[in-house]
Amino acid sequence: MSDTSFQVVLERTGRTIDIPADASILEILELEGVNVPSSCQQGVCGTCETKVLAGEVDHRDMVLTAYEKSSGQSMMICCSRAKGASVTLDL
Ligand code: FES
Repeated sequence: MSDTSFQVVLERTGRTIDIPADASILEILELEGVNVPSSCQQGVCGTCETKVLAGEVDHRDMVLTAYEKSSGQSMMICCSRAKGASVTLDL
């Protein structure tokens, strides 16, 4: 199944940003001037972990445990995506 576009809502700044199917949340936030620390860009280091406030996440990292993934409280924005139409982040 190919990736789809979705929206990211930045709770603290009140911004809503479109994430196209062919780009990561991290890539688009950087383009939009929203800086989140990152390193590996492949879901292995945990640097880009970001708190999730709402929305279901399609977790694709190798950092979070299965329990952490199912709790849905944070996500690696370099590789993981929204499962639905949007995800709200604590940014
Ligand atoms: S930058 Fe390493 S997990 Fe996202």
